[in-house]
Amino acid sequence: MATIGLIGAGHIGSQLARLAIAHGYDVVISNSRGAETLAPLVAELGPRARAATPSAAAAAGDIVVVTIPLKAVNTVPAEPLNGKIVVDTNNYYPQRDGHIAELDNESTTTSELLQRHLPASKVVKAFNHIYAAELTSHGQPKGSPNRRALAIAGDDPAAKRVVSEMIERFGFDVVDAGPLKEGWRYQRDTPGYGPRRTAEELRRDLAAAKRYRDMHSNV
Ligand SMILES: NC(=O)c1ccc[n+]([C@@H]2O[C@H](COP(=O)([O-])OP(=O)(O)OC[C@H]3O[C@@H](n4cnc5c(N)ncnc54)[C@H](OP(=O)(O)O)[C@@H]3O)[C@@H](O)[C@H]2O)c1
Repeated sequence: MATIGLIGAGHIGSQLARLAIAHGYDVVISNSRGAETLAPLVAELGPRARAATPSAAAAAGDIVVVTIPLKAVNTVPAEPLNGKIVVDTNNYYPQRDGHIAELDNESTTTSELLQRHLPASKVVKAFNHIYAAELTSHGQPKGSPNRRALAIAGDDPAAKRVVSEMIERFGFDVVDAGPLKEGWRYQRDTPGYGPRRTAEELRRDLAAAKRYRDMHSNV
């Protein structure tokens, strides 16, 4: 089974680590303060988990998840991620991240910013529209009635297939929102951001999503 590298070990990073371990993956997890601060989490996760620096987690992962405050994405080590699948969970909260002009004027999207920082990686946007606690409580076996769906977006079809298989294994249906530039369809404040949705409901929400500029105008 593959190794999941995690850059970020907070609400989402720790939950994804638990999910990954529960489904047979190895995990290498990192944060900004140093591997020693992750000792309690690693003890909880067991022998298939270890803590490392962000660069070492990036190097170790077959799939690497970036799950940190958006303002820090330019610190993500690029070189060890060359050629790799990078899952981006990040959302833009200006009160936390500071204002980023290109996001404020909607000339780009959060995951496209990470893709630009990691030009040789295959970025897939996923897990940004589910609350951390629900990652380990909302999964169900394939075929369960009203199974929850999660959206993905990305420009590399093979990377999307690998991430879809992982999400399916974690207990969720997958809805493909299209290329990375369509990732805004499940960004903060869109209908599909947060609530539990089946695949059919999520597809409807993605289609109904509006850009911020259109939400805030009366047109
Ligand atoms: N919380 C949710 O339910 C949720 C749901 C979906 C998406 N998201 C998004 O996912 C991202 C992570 O959210 P979160 O709630 O997990 O955040 P969080 O609990 O604040 O955790 C952030 C993690 O990132 C690490 N970090 C910060 N700067 C770093 C850097 N430069 N290099 C490496 N690691 C760094 C932190 O490590 P230290 O503690 O050592 O600084 C911490 O482990 C955010 O963009 C958030 O908007 C959150």
